[in-house]
Amino acid sequence: MFSESIKFLKENSLFRAINDRSSPQGARIIIGGREYLNFSSNDYLGLAGHPYVMESAQKAIERFGFSSGASRLLCGGSVLHKELEEKTAEFKGTESALIFNSGYSANTGIIPAIADEGNVIFSDELNHASIVDGCRLSRAKKIIYRHKDARHLSELIDKETAKRKIIITDSVFSMDGDIAPLKDIHELCSSLNSKLLTPNFILLYIDDAHGTGVLGNGKGALAHFGIKPESWIIQMGTFSKALGSFGAFAAGSKDSIEWILNTARSFIFSTALPSCAAAASIAALEVIEREPELLNKLWSNREQAVHEITKLGYDIMGSETPIIPVRTGTVERALQISQHLMENGIFAPAIRPPTVKKPRIRVAVTSAHTAEDIEKLVKALGSITVKQ
Ligand SMILES: Cc1ncc(COP(=O)(O)O)c(C=O)c1O
Repeated sequence: MFSESIKFLKENSLFRAINDRSSPQGARIIIGGREYLNFSSNDYLGLAGHPYVMESAQKAIERFGFSSGASRLLCGGSVLHKELEEKTAEFKGTESALIFNSGYSANTGIIPAIADEGNVIFSDELNHASIVDGCRLSRAKKIIYRHKDARHLSELIDKETAKRKIIITDSVFSMDGDIAPLKDIHELCSSLNSKLLTPNFILLYIDDAHGTGVLGNGKGALAHFGIKPESWIIQMGTFSKALGSFGAFAAGSKDSIEWILNTARSFIFSTALPSCAAAASIAALEVIEREPELLNKLWSNREQAVHEITKLGYDIMGSETPIIPVRTGTVERALQISQHLMENGIFAPAIRPPTVKKPRIRVAVTSAHTAEDIEKLVKALGSITVKQ
């Protein structure tokens, strides 16, 4: 039934395949019986394999079993879910927080819950696919603003007269590794809100999936910019990236979280996260506060990688974080470079349309890499003849 479409994907180098590991997640992984240096995970702090995180999950399985067996609003949650929510709210400096089963389900649940008919969503053109899908599920009007362009956003906002306007942006863009101009966007929202009689006329929704654990001493993008959480800001983030666990959260004012709890369909109509995942996330939050050296190592690894990759003449497309895209030109070239890296024992897959418009190798460094690991990556990138 789909053979023609599949043929098209194959002929255009767009066919995707899965590479499953036979090892834990980490700086070194085994795929197809061969060990690779791994530069493709979001496990930025190496917490997926941290002994305390793993032990906490194991103890939770012994205490609560594996499946949560029901949605949260029935009997799916355990005391660990509540503990994680309290800890997340404290970590993010908000009144309240709510756990979701994944970042994808958070964005596709929260966005339609906060943006309804008669409202207008303003979304950065490079926002994550889960935000795009959340916007599609919302009955609000959608307006796309130019990537990171707060001035364009402001012009577009001025043209709209809606009951509520919701600005949505990734904090760190997952395929480009650049950071949203949150200071400017925050100032814009703040000034618009202060001029209005209706409270929370402007809502700011930030997807901090790649900022949490990475920016602002681990606290995320708002802390990075020195922005105070406010009643009109909703932060979403994931436990599945720097926190080395699984699941996601919304953090904000008490009433926005209560509203989301009552209306986000992906929260209401889905089995709750297993308690062991909540336990791992609690442990990961503790580790981030207890072991700041992990974050320091992440950023020094990032500096080394950026310095050496750019010295080779590669375009890293404005990266500001441990996500370092290496521009490749064509899709075929991206595949060739990725294949060359694999032959040199390095796993860093090509990222192609439709995920991104411009093909690239997405290099992600973590605190678990050594200086020698990064040198190996750079050596392999340096032994490619034509770069773009
Ligand atoms: C910016 C962003 N938001 C949301 C998600 C989805 O998170 P999860 O993997 O927990 O579903 C991702 C993951 O790729 C992401 O990069």
